[in-house]
Amino acid sequence: MCGIIGYVGSRPAEEILLAGLRRLEYRGYDSAGISLLADGEIQSVRAVGNLDRLEEALADGGGGVATLAPPATIGIGHTRWATHGRVSERNAHPHCDSAGRVHVVVNGIVENYMALRESLRADGAVFSSETDAEVIAHLIATMYADDLASTVVRALGELEGFFAFVAMSLDEPDVLVAARRECPLVVGRGDGESFVASAVPAFLAHTRSVQIVENGEVVVVRADGVEILDSAGVALEREVTRIDWDEETAEKGGYETFMLKEIHEQADALAETINDRTVRGDGVDLAEEGVFDESLLHGVTRVVFVACGTAYHAGLMGRYAIEEWAGLPVEVEIASEYRYRGPIVGPTDLVIGISQSGETADTLGAMRTARERGARVVALTNVMGSQATRDADGVLYTRAGLEIGVAATKTFVAQLALVYLLALRLAELRGTLAPERLAELVRALRRLPQLVEELLGGLEERIDRIAEWCWEAPFFLYIGRHAGVPIALEGALKLKEISYVSTDAYAAGEMKHGPIAMLDESTPVVAVATSSPVLAKVLNNIDEVRARGAKVIAVSTAGDATVAPHVEATIEVPASDPMLEPLLAVVPLQLLAYRIAMRRGLNPDQPRNLAKTVTVE
Ligand code: G6P
Repeated sequence: MCGIIGYVGSRPAEEILLAGLRRLEYRGYDSAGISLLADGEIQSVRAVGNLDRLEEALADGGGGVATLAPPATIGIGHTRWATHGRVSERNAHPHCDSAGRVHVVVNGIVENYMALRESLRADGAVFSSETDAEVIAHLIATMYADDLASTVVRALGELEGFFAFVAMSLDEPDVLVAARRECPLVVGRGDGESFVASAVPAFLAHTRSVQIVENGEVVVVRADGVEILDSAGVALEREVTRIDWDEETAEKGGYETFMLKEIHEQADALAETINDRTVRGDGVDLAEEGVFDESLLHGVTRVVFVACGTAYHAGLMGRYAIEEWAGLPVEVEIASEYRYRGPIVGPTDLVIGISQSGETADTLGAMRTARERGARVVALTNVMGSQATRDADGVLYTRAGLEIGVAATKTFVAQLALVYLLALRLAELRGTLAPERLAELVRALRRLPQLVEELLGGLEERIDRIAEWCWEAPFFLYIGRHAGVPIALEGALKLKEISYVSTDAYAAGEMKHGPIAMLDESTPVVAVATSSPVLAKVLNNIDEVRARGAKVIAVSTAGDATVAPHVEATIEVPASDPMLEPLLAVVPLQLLAYRIAMRRGLNPDQPRNLAKTVTVE
């Protein structure tokens, strides 16, 4: 996830921007850049790699760019986590219009960038990067008459997607204009200086007076004051709040841990992963130039997922979705087993390595085995440039941003979203779904970010009340059926990973073949009981465990009254398609594991014995 910062005041902007970007490093990035305005000139320096590389480039005069004299007191900066366009200096921000008069730094995605790029090109704009972000600079420059603020208000009306950006223009050397749609943006008010950034840590060393920018708003930032405008350009009142966070809390966005912050970032991660792949409305586009060529999907006779840990559970979900929607056989394999098993695999097989990090040794090994046997190999990962991306014939990126908590949360929901997208694209190519059904599923998928947002409101308190009575239990059983099975497995893994509580997870139909022997009155049983063609069977299994005295916590679908009479506690998730509701159901299970870990006095960000990335066998 990119970090953006803007500064206007009376001190040298270069130092303040660089220090601010350092405070945003935790968001993850692969390149960085700044633009400074002084003396009727804007100079821009960008570099691939970390901020040390950027500082070296600045010290070098930025490849011919001399240090500005007098030092600039206004500027913008960016750390880029690549999503559109590979990691390169020309794709790094800031971006500018063809005349170099308007510079922008952007976080997020402009969904209609292709259409905008075409029309701006027709008007003479010359593009210099592969990014979607660059259109914003050209658009503002084209629309500009004599007022940057009103131009940004109008430009915002032309932009689709979710993003936050800061713009700076040579024509108005004392003002920055920023705007926000979904992606974070916050203003810092100093004494004779102002800041605007993705997150508070960027300016915490200078001021603790903060103004929150809401969705759809535009902010006009000057050294001596800030004006917030609504989407029609009307000025709004906004209180200045004082933040008393220390630096560490600030990095966590005010949350007590990274894991909790990342759980709350899931709507964003989903939107980034889904939205621009579903722009067509009636179908899915997975093509990404130089990254994923959809011809890899043509003539496929079988899909094989290879993965470890949480990523394996995303593969299991892929099996339900692809088999049901696209009518293709799917296998899901633990990567460490697959690589040594001598698998039967060949050219019409699509082998997909799912790996958050793209560096897990066993997943890489399994992908290599498949490749050697002639299969087409795709990496489904969150990290651009990771080893998996280099070893694969094509890459499907989740766009969840950097995940710091060892237990995967936001990257898992992004993986689920991407396997759903893949299933729908395969169905479309194979003609296995009626067009209306396909369009309906695309709409349902696009609504998921909003549903996750709704679900998270007030959920923590509800979950904590449940954790209050079960946190000391020594053993938990998780059950589910159909697409609920991967979620039961993932819920159990989360609890195990961060609470060190013994768990088992089973397809509910298997319960009678063993795990039921474990149950007694002390056992909490967590059941995924969202809507599904087999919900009645899940309820039967719930009755069976209750007959042994176990206490059942069920995740059910809002509006379904059939589950509550069978269980001790229900946690409702918003209604969606039965195949998609399990994605929603994992959110309360993550929080349940989280609240139990906290009640046990453990640090969920760094569970004992576990590593975020397992680069050895
Ligand atoms: C480790 C992590 C898990 C992750 C698994 C696979 O066990 O702690 O969160 O699911 O590795 O990692 P990958 O990066 O390949 O998804």
